[in-house]
Amino acid sequence: MKKISKKRLLAKILLCGVVILSAYLICDQYVILTPEYTIKSDKVQNGFKIALISDLHNMDFGNGNRKVIDTIKRNSPDMIAVVGDMIDERSTDITPTLSLMKQLPDIAPTYYVLGNHDKSCPQYETFKKEIMSSKVHFLRATDNGKEIISKAEITATFNGDKVHILGLHTYSNGEYEDPRYTEIMDKFCSKSGFKILLCHYPEFTPWFFGQDKYYETNFDLMLCGHTHGGLIRIPFVGGLVAPNQGFFPEYDRGLFLVDKENKNPYHMVITGGLGQDRRCIRINNFPQVTLINVVPSEKE
Ligand SMILES: [Fe+2]
Repeated sequence: MKKISKKRLLAKILLCGVVILSAYLICDQYVILTPEYTIKSDKVQNGFKIALISDLHNMDFGNGNRKVIDTIKRNSPDMIAVVGDMIDERSTDITPTLSLMKQLPDIAPTYYVLGNHDKSCPQYETFKKEIMSSKVHFLRATDNGKEIISKAEITATFNGDKVHILGLHTYSNGEYEDPRYTEIMDKFCSKSGFKILLCHYPEFTPWFFGQDKYYETNFDLMLCGHTHGGLIRIPFVGGLVAPNQGFFPEYDRGLFLVDKENKNPYHMVITGGLGQDRRCIRINNFPQVTLINVVPSEKE
């Protein structure tokens, strides 16, 4: 039998390693995972399923985002939440994103809030017009400071359960300090029934309530994106970095019970998102369509 030298063996092992790593990094960008979480609530009778997506950043998962559509369709949600950064300022072709957005309402009622990048896209006005003339519910409290509060909230019925949905967006220019946001939150939290807050940013909750009210939350579920799962996922550690949270963010992606030691804790689900800003990379961080099952307390 032919003897392989140590050097050649090492080179072969290294080559195999490079091939496996390259394949993994390619899959890492295009294979969509569907993490699933369950939330129990005594405010629902039958329960319903939510598909949560965000942060597409104008990427195309093939043929007008067919892969995203198929992934969502396969999971038969009762509601689809799109929590921002679907388009951005670094890519001007919004066709794949529009293709996705317009097809979502054919699967389930779809609710959209802005992220920090959508409005900076040169095609934003076109995008907005298209979305507003589609069946997507575009929820926002203000538009460049103008009051359109009635468009921020909606009540829907999913699988026989009445649900209140509020969509808030903020910008780093201080719009989140607008006192009207606190008013909107107060009104929303005083409603009975299951309440979902859609907001791009997981780390901005305190501002919506005003610092004093932060610990008296009374909504049930907050759905967010923005973190891109922490960009680089370190095994056994989690995400590396997230905006406004810095390194090793507490809220990177997944299900969290926020303020659990307080009277009214709420669940927050952060999706790891689908794409990324062209300046950033995702490593060991597969794109996600995140699924949430809201079930009656006695069932699981
Ligand atoms: Fe983003």
